[in-house]
Amino acid sequence: ELGLHSHFMQKEIYEQPKAIADTAEIFLDGGFIAENFGDDAPAIFKTINSIKILACGTSYYAALTGKYWLESIAKIRCDVEIASEYRYRDVIADDKELVITISQSGETLDTMEALKYAVAQGHTHSLSICNVMESALPRSSSLAIYTRAGAEIGVASTKAFTTQLVILFGLAVTLGRVRGHVSEADLERYADDLRQLPGSIQHALNLEPQLGVWAQKFAAKPSALFLGRGIHYPIALEGALKLKELTYIHAEAYPAGELKHGPLALVDENMPVVVIAPNDSLLDKVKANMQEVGARGGELFVLTDLDSDFTDTEGVHVIRTPRHIGVLSPIVHTIAVQLLSYHVALVRGTDVDKPRNLAKSVTVE
Ligand code: F6R
Repeated sequence: ELGLHSHFMQKEIYEQPKAIADTAEIFLDGGFIAENFGDDAPAIFKTINSIKILACGTSYYAALTGKYWLESIAKIRCDVEIASEYRYRDVIADDKELVITISQSGETLDTMEALKYAVAQGHTHSLSICNVMESALPRSSSLAIYTRAGAEIGVASTKAFTTQLVILFGLAVTLGRVRGHVSEADLERYADDLRQLPGSIQHALNLEPQLGVWAQKFAAKPSALFLGRGIHYPIALEGALKLKELTYIHAEAYPAGELKHGPLALVDENMPVVVIAPNDSLLDKVKANMQEVGARGGELFVLTDLDSDFTDTEGVHVIRTPRHIGVLSPIVHTIAVQLLSYHVALVRGTDVDKPRNLAKSVTVE
Protein backbone atom coordinates (compact mmCIF):
# COMPACT_ATOMS: atom_id res chain seq x y z
CA GLU A 1 0.00 0.00 0.00
CA LEU A 2 2.92 2.32 0.68
CA GLY A 3 4.35 1.95 -2.82
CA LEU A 4 7.65 3.78 -3.03
CA HIS A 5 7.03 5.74 0.16
CA SER A 6 8.55 5.02 3.57
CA HIS A 7 5.55 6.10 5.65
CA PHE A 8 1.87 6.80 5.18
CA MET A 9 2.55 10.40 6.13
CA GLN A 10 5.03 10.82 3.29
CA LYS A 11 2.63 9.09 0.88
CA GLU A 12 -0.21 11.36 2.00
CA ILE A 13 1.93 14.48 1.66
CA TYR A 14 2.69 13.42 -1.91
CA GLU A 15 -0.97 12.71 -2.65
CA GLN A 16 -1.80 16.38 -2.12
CA PRO A 17 -1.61 17.59 -5.74
CA LYS A 18 -4.25 15.02 -6.65
CA ALA A 19 -6.36 15.40 -3.50
CA ILE A 20 -6.38 19.16 -3.99
CA ALA A 21 -7.19 18.93 -7.70
CA ASP A 22 -10.05 16.49 -6.94
CA THR A 23 -11.44 18.79 -4.25
CA ALA A 24 -11.05 21.92 -6.40
CA GLU A 25 -13.02 20.12 -9.13
CA ILE A 26 -16.15 20.46 -6.97
CA PHE A 27 -16.04 24.22 -7.55
CA LEU A 28 -14.55 24.33 -11.03
CA ASP A 29 -17.30 22.02 -12.30
CA GLY A 30 -20.27 24.33 -12.66
CA GLY A 31 -18.61 27.48 -11.29
CA PHE A 32 -18.83 27.79 -7.49
CA ILE A 33 -22.52 26.90 -7.24
CA ALA A 34 -24.23 26.86 -3.84
CA GLU A 35 -25.79 23.44 -4.56
CA ASN A 36 -22.35 21.88 -3.94
CA PHE A 37 -23.14 22.31 -0.25
CA GLY A 38 -26.62 20.72 -0.38
CA ASP A 39 -30.07 21.30 -1.83
CA ASP A 40 -30.98 23.90 0.79
CA ALA A 41 -27.71 25.81 0.46
CA PRO A 42 -28.89 28.48 -2.05
CA ALA A 43 -31.65 29.60 0.34
CA ILE A 44 -29.55 29.33 3.50
CA PHE A 45 -26.60 31.21 1.99
CA LYS A 46 -28.89 34.17 1.25
CA THR A 47 -30.40 34.20 4.75
CA ILE A 48 -27.35 34.08 6.98
CA ASN A 49 -25.50 37.13 8.26
CA SER A 50 -22.56 35.53 10.04
CA ILE A 51 -20.58 32.31 10.40
CA LYS A 52 -19.29 30.43 13.42
CA ILE A 53 -16.77 27.65 12.79
CA LEU A 54 -16.23 24.94 15.42
CA ALA A 55 -13.38 22.44 15.20
CA CYS A 56 -10.43 20.86 17.03
CA GLY A 57 -6.70 20.59 16.37
CA THR A 58 -5.57 20.88 12.79
CA SER A 59 -9.17 21.33 11.62
CA TYR A 60 -9.35 24.36 13.94
CA TYR A 61 -6.32 25.84 12.17
CA ALA A 62 -8.04 25.30 8.83
CA ALA A 63 -10.96 27.27 10.25
CA LEU A 64 -8.67 30.11 11.36
CA THR A 65 -7.32 30.33 7.79
CA GLY A 66 -10.81 30.15 6.29
CA LYS A 67 -11.91 33.14 8.35
CA TYR A 68 -9.60 35.41 6.30
CA TRP A 69 -11.10 34.25 2.99
CA LEU A 70 -14.69 34.39 4.27
CA GLU A 71 -14.30 37.94 5.53
CA SER A 72 -12.26 39.29 2.61
CA ILE A 73 -13.95 37.49 -0.31
CA ALA A 74 -17.50 36.88 0.92
CA LYS A 75 -17.58 39.91 3.26
CA ILE A 76 -19.32 37.87 5.93
CA ARG A 77 -18.39 38.05 9.61
CA CYS A 78 -16.77 34.83 10.79
CA ASP A 79 -15.80 33.68 14.28
CA VAL A 80 -13.79 30.55 14.93
CA GLU A 81 -13.85 28.56 18.15
CA ILE A 82 -12.29 25.47 19.60
CA ALA A 83 -15.18 23.03 19.89
CA SER A 84 -14.30 21.81 23.38
CA GLU A 85 -14.43 25.40 24.66
CA TYR A 86 -17.61 26.43 22.86
CA ARG A 87 -19.64 23.54 24.23
CA TYR A 88 -19.04 24.62 27.82
CA ARG A 89 -19.84 28.30 27.75
CA ASP A 90 -22.94 30.43 27.50
CA VAL A 91 -23.55 31.24 23.87
CA ILE A 92 -25.93 33.65 22.23
CA ALA A 93 -28.18 31.84 19.79
CA ASP A 94 -28.61 33.35 16.36
CA ASP A 95 -30.73 31.71 13.70
CA LYS A 96 -29.03 33.83 11.06
CA GLU A 97 -25.63 32.44 11.95
CA LEU A 98 -24.37 29.45 9.95
CA VAL A 99 -22.61 27.00 12.26
CA ILE A 100 -19.85 25.19 10.40
CA THR A 101 -18.05 22.17 11.80
CA ILE A 102 -14.80 21.00 10.24
CA SER A 103 -13.61 17.46 10.94
CA GLN A 104 -11.54 15.00 8.95
CA SER A 105 -13.06 11.97 10.70
CA GLY A 106 -16.55 13.37 11.20
CA GLU A 107 -16.56 11.59 14.57
CA THR A 108 -14.66 13.92 16.91
CA LEU A 109 -16.71 13.92 20.09
CA ASP A 110 -16.04 17.51 21.14
CA THR A 111 -16.98 18.84 17.69
CA MET A 112 -20.14 16.72 17.62
CA GLU A 113 -21.17 17.88 21.09
CA ALA A 114 -20.45 21.51 20.16
CA LEU A 115 -22.78 21.18 17.17
CA LYS A 116 -25.52 19.61 19.30
CA TYR A 117 -25.11 22.40 21.83
CA ALA A 118 -25.32 25.11 19.13
CA VAL A 119 -28.53 23.57 17.79
CA ALA A 120 -30.01 23.18 21.27
CA GLN A 121 -29.32 26.88 21.91
CA GLY A 122 -31.33 27.86 18.83
CA HIS A 123 -29.00 27.80 15.82
CA THR A 124 -30.94 26.45 12.86
CA HIS A 125 -28.39 26.31 10.01
CA SER A 126 -25.37 24.03 10.06
CA LEU A 127 -22.77 22.87 7.55
CA SER A 128 -20.31 20.02 7.98
CA ILE A 129 -16.97 19.95 6.12
CA CYS A 130 -15.80 16.39 6.41
CA ASN A 131 -13.61 13.73 4.79
CA VAL A 132 -15.59 10.63 5.78
CA MET A 133 -18.90 9.99 4.02
CA GLU A 134 -21.94 9.49 6.23
CA SER A 135 -20.02 10.02 9.47
CA ALA A 136 -21.72 11.55 12.52
CA LEU A 137 -21.15 15.25 11.77
CA PRO A 138 -22.45 15.40 8.18
CA ARG A 139 -25.40 13.20 9.21
CA SER A 140 -26.31 15.71 11.92
CA SER A 141 -25.93 18.89 9.85
CA SER A 142 -28.39 20.64 7.52
CA LEU A 143 -25.67 20.98 4.83
CA ALA A 144 -22.59 18.90 4.09
CA ILE A 145 -19.63 18.94 1.74
CA TYR A 146 -16.82 16.42 1.54
CA THR A 147 -13.10 16.91 1.06
CA ARG A 148 -11.82 14.51 -1.57
CA ALA A 149 -8.62 13.60 0.29
CA GLY A 150 -9.21 9.85 0.27
CA ALA A 151 -8.47 7.80 3.40
CA GLU A 152 -5.87 9.39 5.67
CA ILE A 153 -3.94 6.78 7.67
CA GLY A 154 -1.15 8.84 9.25
CA VAL A 155 -2.32 10.14 12.61
CA ALA A 156 -0.98 13.62 11.86
CA SER A 157 -3.31 15.26 9.37
CA THR A 158 -1.80 16.42 6.08
CA LYS A 159 -3.96 16.08 2.96
CA ALA A 160 -7.15 16.37 5.01
CA PHE A 161 -5.98 19.80 6.21
CA THR A 162 -5.05 21.19 2.78
CA THR A 163 -8.27 19.92 1.21
CA GLN A 164 -10.26 21.50 4.05
CA LEU A 165 -8.59 24.76 3.04
CA VAL A 166 -9.69 24.26 -0.57
CA ILE A 167 -13.29 23.78 0.58
CA LEU A 168 -13.14 26.90 2.76
CA PHE A 169 -11.79 28.94 -0.15
CA GLY A 170 -14.52 27.51 -2.41
CA LEU A 171 -17.10 28.37 0.23
CA ALA A 172 -15.86 31.96 0.46
CA VAL A 173 -16.04 32.42 -3.31
CA THR A 174 -19.45 30.73 -3.51
CA LEU A 175 -20.89 32.85 -0.69
CA GLY A 176 -19.34 35.97 -2.22
CA ARG A 177 -20.99 35.18 -5.53
CA VAL A 178 -24.41 34.39 -4.04
CA ARG A 179 -24.32 37.54 -1.93
CA GLY A 180 -23.12 39.82 -4.72
CA HIS A 181 -19.55 40.54 -3.59
CA VAL A 182 -17.74 38.58 -6.31
CA SER A 183 -17.91 39.80 -9.91
CA GLU A 184 -17.67 37.59 -12.99
CA ALA A 185 -14.07 38.74 -13.46
CA ASP A 186 -13.22 37.89 -9.83
CA LEU A 187 -14.83 34.49 -10.28
CA GLU A 188 -12.66 33.74 -13.28
CA ARG A 189 -9.54 34.80 -11.37
CA TYR A 190 -10.41 32.62 -8.37
CA ALA A 191 -11.13 29.66 -10.66
CA ASP A 192 -7.75 30.19 -12.25
CA ASP A 193 -6.05 30.33 -8.84
CA LEU A 194 -7.62 26.94 -8.04
CA ARG A 195 -6.55 25.47 -11.39
CA GLN A 196 -2.93 26.56 -10.78
CA LEU A 197 -2.85 25.23 -7.24
CA PRO A 198 -2.00 21.54 -7.83
CA GLY A 199 0.99 22.61 -9.95
CA SER A 200 2.21 24.96 -7.22
CA ILE A 201 1.85 22.16 -4.66
CA GLN A 202 3.93 19.90 -6.88
CA HIS A 203 6.66 22.56 -7.00
CA ALA A 204 6.54 22.85 -3.21
CA LEU A 205 7.02 19.07 -2.91
CA ASN A 206 10.22 19.46 -4.89
CA LEU A 207 11.63 21.45 -1.95
CA GLU A 208 11.91 18.24 0.08
CA PRO A 209 15.73 17.90 -0.21
CA GLN A 210 16.24 21.48 1.02
CA LEU A 211 13.85 20.93 3.92
CA GLY A 212 15.76 17.74 4.73
CA VAL A 213 18.90 19.89 5.15
CA TRP A 214 17.04 22.23 7.51
CA ALA A 215 15.81 19.22 9.47
CA GLN A 216 19.39 18.35 10.48
CA LYS A 217 19.63 21.72 12.20
CA PHE A 218 16.40 21.21 14.16
CA ALA A 219 16.85 17.65 15.30
CA ALA A 220 18.90 18.35 18.43
CA LYS A 221 17.05 21.49 19.53
CA PRO A 222 14.83 21.45 22.61
CA SER A 223 12.29 23.83 21.14
CA ALA A 224 11.35 25.92 18.12
CA LEU A 225 9.29 29.00 17.35
CA PHE A 226 7.06 29.52 14.29
CA LEU A 227 6.04 33.00 13.18
CA GLY A 228 3.57 34.24 10.61
CA ARG A 229 1.26 37.18 10.08
CA GLY A 230 -2.25 37.53 8.73
CA ILE A 231 -3.48 34.52 6.81
CA HIS A 232 -0.11 32.81 7.32
CA TYR A 233 -0.33 32.89 11.12
CA PRO A 234 -2.58 29.79 11.16
CA ILE A 235 0.04 28.04 8.99
CA ALA A 236 2.65 28.87 11.64
CA LEU A 237 0.30 27.24 14.19
CA GLU A 238 -0.02 24.18 11.96
CA GLY A 239 3.78 24.02 11.55
CA ALA A 240 4.28 24.10 15.32
CA LEU A 241 1.62 21.43 15.87
CA LYS A 242 3.16 19.11 13.26
CA LEU A 243 6.61 19.53 14.84
CA LYS A 244 5.26 18.75 18.33
CA GLU A 245 3.28 15.71 17.21
CA LEU A 246 5.91 14.13 15.01
CA THR A 247 9.18 14.97 16.76
CA TYR A 248 8.19 15.74 20.38
CA ILE A 249 10.19 18.96 20.14
CA HIS A 250 8.44 21.72 22.00
CA ALA A 251 7.18 24.25 19.48
CA GLU A 252 5.07 27.36 19.67
CA ALA A 253 3.60 29.67 17.08
CA TYR A 254 3.03 33.40 17.38
CA PRO A 255 1.72 36.11 15.14
CA ALA A 256 5.07 37.83 14.47
CA GLY A 257 3.83 41.16 15.83
CA GLU A 258 3.39 39.60 19.27
CA LEU A 259 7.10 38.75 19.63
CA LYS A 260 8.05 41.82 21.57
CA HIS A 261 5.12 41.35 23.92
CA GLY A 262 6.72 38.30 25.51
CA PRO A 263 8.11 35.44 23.45
CA LEU A 264 11.18 37.42 22.38
CA ALA A 265 12.54 36.58 25.84
CA LEU A 266 12.91 32.96 24.67
CA VAL A 267 15.06 33.77 21.66
CA ASP A 268 18.76 32.93 21.73
CA GLU A 269 21.17 31.02 19.47
CA ASN A 270 19.58 27.75 20.54
CA MET A 271 16.11 28.65 19.31
CA PRO A 272 15.39 28.02 15.64
CA VAL A 273 12.72 30.41 14.40
CA VAL A 274 10.70 29.44 11.33
CA VAL A 275 9.13 32.44 9.61
CA ILE A 276 6.43 32.11 6.99
CA ALA A 277 7.06 35.23 4.97
CA PRO A 278 5.62 35.30 1.46
CA ASN A 279 5.66 38.55 -0.45
CA ASP A 280 2.31 39.93 0.68
CA SER A 281 1.22 43.25 2.16
CA LEU A 282 2.66 42.29 5.56
CA LEU A 283 6.16 41.40 4.36
CA ASP A 284 7.82 44.59 5.61
CA LYS A 285 6.25 44.08 9.00
CA VAL A 286 7.50 40.50 9.10
CA LYS A 287 11.01 41.65 8.16
CA ALA A 288 11.04 44.06 11.08
CA ASN A 289 10.02 41.19 13.37
CA MET A 290 12.81 39.05 11.91
CA GLN A 291 15.36 41.72 12.76
CA GLU A 292 14.21 41.52 16.36
CA VAL A 293 15.04 37.79 16.30
CA GLY A 294 18.37 38.25 14.47
CA ALA A 295 19.52 40.90 16.95
CA ARG A 296 19.13 38.34 19.77
CA GLY A 297 21.19 35.70 17.98
CA GLY A 298 18.19 33.62 16.90
CA GLU A 299 18.64 31.43 13.81
CA LEU A 300 16.01 32.24 11.17
CA PHE A 301 14.49 29.73 8.75
CA VAL A 302 12.51 31.71 6.21
CA LEU A 303 9.84 30.18 4.00
CA THR A 304 9.03 32.64 1.28
CA ASP A 305 8.10 32.90 -2.39
CA LEU A 306 9.91 33.92 -5.56
CA ASP A 307 9.08 37.60 -5.40
CA SER A 308 10.69 38.47 -2.08
CA ASP A 309 14.25 39.71 -1.76
CA PHE A 310 15.61 37.57 1.10
CA THR A 311 19.14 36.27 0.80
CA ASP A 312 20.90 33.52 2.67
CA THR A 313 23.24 35.12 5.16
CA GLU A 314 24.83 34.17 8.47
CA GLY A 315 21.98 32.93 10.65
CA VAL A 316 19.32 33.36 7.94
CA HIS A 317 18.31 30.36 5.81
CA VAL A 318 15.86 30.87 2.97
CA ILE A 319 13.67 28.41 1.06
CA ARG A 320 11.45 29.69 -1.72
CA THR A 321 8.22 28.23 -2.94
CA PRO A 322 8.55 28.44 -6.71
CA ARG A 323 5.98 31.06 -7.59
CA HIS A 324 3.98 33.79 -5.99
CA ILE A 325 0.66 32.08 -5.36
CA GLY A 326 -1.42 35.00 -4.16
CA VAL A 327 -4.60 34.27 -2.28
CA LEU A 328 -3.96 30.50 -1.97
CA SER A 329 -0.44 30.92 -0.61
CA PRO A 330 -1.27 29.43 2.85
CA ILE A 331 -1.98 26.06 1.19
CA VAL A 332 1.37 26.01 -0.60
CA HIS A 333 3.35 27.03 2.50
CA THR A 334 1.68 24.22 4.45
CA ILE A 335 3.53 21.67 2.31
CA ALA A 336 6.88 23.05 3.47
CA VAL A 337 6.04 22.86 7.19
CA GLN A 338 4.73 19.30 6.75
CA LEU A 339 7.94 18.18 5.03
CA LEU A 340 10.11 19.91 7.61
CA SER A 341 8.46 18.09 10.53
CA TYR A 342 8.52 14.81 8.63
CA HIS A 343 12.27 15.09 8.10
CA VAL A 344 13.03 16.18 11.66
CA ALA A 345 11.10 13.06 12.77
CA LEU A 346 13.21 10.88 10.47
CA VAL A 347 16.42 12.28 11.98
CA ARG A 348 15.11 11.75 15.52
CA GLY A 349 13.76 8.29 14.74
CA THR A 350 10.25 8.88 16.06
CA ASP A 351 7.19 6.94 14.87
CA VAL A 352 5.99 9.18 12.07
CA ASP A 353 2.67 7.49 11.37
CA LYS A 354 1.71 6.84 14.99
CA PRO A 355 2.98 9.55 17.33
CA ARG A 356 2.96 8.51 20.98
CA ASN A 357 -0.19 9.24 23.03
CA LEU A 358 -2.32 10.24 20.02
CA ALA A 359 -5.26 8.61 18.22
CA LYS A 360 -6.53 9.22 14.71
CA SER A 361 -10.11 9.73 15.72
CA VAL A 362 -10.79 11.29 19.11
CA THR A 363 -14.18 9.94 20.18
CA VAL A 364 -13.67 10.59 23.88
CA GLU A 365 -13.62 13.84 25.77
C1 F6R B 1 -3.24 16.84 14.07
C2 F6R B 1 -4.56 16.21 13.96
C3 F6R B 1 -5.58 16.55 15.01
C4 F6R B 1 -6.99 16.56 14.41
C5 F6R B 1 -8.04 16.75 15.52
C6 F6R B 1 -9.44 16.87 14.94
O1 F6R B 1 -2.39 16.48 13.04
O2 F6R B 1 -4.80 15.43 13.07
O3 F6R B 1 -5.29 17.76 15.62
O4 F6R B 1 -7.08 17.58 13.47
O5 F6R B 1 -7.99 15.68 16.41
O6 F6R B 1 -9.77 15.75 14.20
P1 F6R B 1 -10.94 15.76 13.15
O7 F6R B 1 -10.53 16.66 12.03
O8 F6R B 1 -11.12 14.34 12.71
O9 F6R B 1 -12.15 16.29 13.85
